[in-house]
Amino acid sequence: MCGIVGYIGPNQAAPVILEGLHTLEYRGYDSAGLGVLTARGPKVVRAVGRVRDLEEALPKRLSATVGIGHTRWATHGPATQENAHPHTDAEGRILLVHNGIIDNAAQLRAALTADGVTLQSDTDTEALAHLIARSSAKTLEDKVLETLGKVTGTYAIAVADAKQPDRVVVARQGSPLVLGVGDHEMFVASDATALVRHTSSVVHLDDGELAVVTADGFRTFTAESNDTGKQPQTVDLDAVQAQIGEHDTFMHKEIHEQPESLRRMLSGRLDDRFATARLDGLQIEARELRKFKRVKAIGCGSAYYIGQLGASMIEDLARIPADAEAASEFRYRNPIIEPDTLYVAVSQSGETADTLFAVNEIQRKGGTVVGLVNVVGSSIARACDGGIYLHAGPEVSVASTKVLTHMGVGFALLALALGRVRDLSFTEGKRILDGLRNLPDQVAEIIAKEDEIASVAKELTHAQSLFFIGRVRGYPVAREGAQKLKEISYLHAEAYQASELKHGPLALIIPAMPTVAIIPDDELVDRNIGALHEITARKGKVVAITHSEIDLEGTEVARIDVPRNEVELDPLLLTIPLQLLAYHVATALGRDIDRPRNLAKSVTVE
Ligand code: F6R
Repeated sequence: MCGIVGYIGPNQAAPVILEGLHTLEYRGYDSAGLGVLTARGPKVVRAVGRVRDLEEALPKRLSATVGIGHTRWATHGPATQENAHPHTDAEGRILLVHNGIIDNAAQLRAALTADGVTLQSDTDTEALAHLIARSSAKTLEDKVLETLGKVTGTYAIAVADAKQPDRVVVARQGSPLVLGVGDHEMFVASDATALVRHTSSVVHLDDGELAVVTADGFRTFTAESNDTGKQPQTVDLDAVQAQIGEHDTFMHKEIHEQPESLRRMLSGRLDDRFATARLDGLQIEARELRKFKRVKAIGCGSAYYIGQLGASMIEDLARIPADAEAASEFRYRNPIIEPDTLYVAVSQSGETADTLFAVNEIQRKGGTVVGLVNVVGSSIARACDGGIYLHAGPEVSVASTKVLTHMGVGFALLALALGRVRDLSFTEGKRILDGLRNLPDQVAEIIAKEDEIASVAKELTHAQSLFFIGRVRGYPVAREGAQKLKEISYLHAEAYQASELKHGPLALIIPAMPTVAIIPDDELVDRNIGALHEITARKGKVVAITHSEIDLEGTEVARIDVPRNEVELDPLLLTIPLQLLAYHVATALGRDIDRPRNLAKSVTVE
């Protein structure tokens, strides 16, 4: 977590850094800080709260053309001014910002204290600033390199030195870091969205790589090589796209963007000639796809839930066993990696540490892993053997919406490609292609019901707690619905398999605990309605997310109908009202929609 930004060039550094920090605030927002090298020496300003609080704390005149900044998501020590970055050495000459976790921080801190250093913060980061200042190496880059040799853990760091103000040194190990190349100016950031307003020419650092950055350019190197010769690449990120436009929040904007973003994602990928999906990025020949006997999706949080939905699409269409697992669990349990399993890493940011680690583990053990990733050039996208880019555009709101729908579509495309080299007929393939083509308009149809959904949401704001239930294909949808509501409304919600209610949780049903029931029009519809009768018989209230064709036999107090697509794709449509439901419950409760408490957009810590 945490976002870092740096600037060196002819212009004022502070405004560039602040602007970058605003863009990166999704990575953490409990405190922020900025450090610049002025003609009179280094100046550090830190504030608890948002980047706007930092902005208010800045002196009116702060003239400097080199500096670094940070927006924090606390890992070591509470959100206080002392724990905010940049951290400095005792003399205040070295300024350092860090994203990641230093595993041996306790030992490093103890050794420094024993040596007479007084530490100013509780963080794992501060020790690095002291160690760099105490290094006997000559140049800042050598001091940083020497220090990192003593450090274990993950980091992206940017360091400035008042005694060598012509450079910023950066390093990456396990946390993302990008350089931006301008005209006699250079930028540094945790991700390219913070740079696109200034340049489209970027350099992605790899783990173990450092860079010395001056106004006129950069040199990348490692402990083993003096020059790794990295060249800039052009990124295609439309900064305008990340602007909020007429919407009150990014989440609202991102929900509404879906019809358009889905059309973009599908464009060029639907192959009518062979009734399949065109997925060149997978880098696996159609024939080779047949060798996989099993598929396993891995991801965290909502990406995991969508993986579960994806696995059911693959089982339905390709008839090969498929399942999903939380990457955060998978990586810790010494999983058995099978050469004939296709692993699918699912991630919006492409930087989630647990998912990235799982990818590395699969590859170390000889497995093939492809990515369903949104952020182009992100760590997971680069680590995977191939993949399907989601092309949803930037997602700023912490609660993921549009990208999850894109992930679901990514799985549908993959399921189609896997199915068509097995038993899925041409006609069946065409059926899915037509279904995919209809999706964007149907999503638009659901979003047009926003007012209706908002009035259902209003009734739910009084709930003490909620159940979200679904069965088989509907269950991952229920999990995602509960997750979205919890994240942004702070109401307690629990997802359950409708089939399991009677085995225990039915005891919780009271009028103050409504149930949001996901009822697709599939072979399980009668069973699902049976579960609704069990709930209403116990005075429970049911809000159904379903299709107008289904008669719920009077069990519901409210219903939101979505259009019918194909049975394998309907779950994607059933998730859309749940996004709006969570949004309107949270809005009615006055929550901070885009920046929910305790969370961050991209979880780059383990
Ligand atoms: C939920 C949410 C999180 C993410 C999870 C994985 O709205 O956003 O649960 O889905 O942290 O993040 P990515 O997809 O970036 O790997």
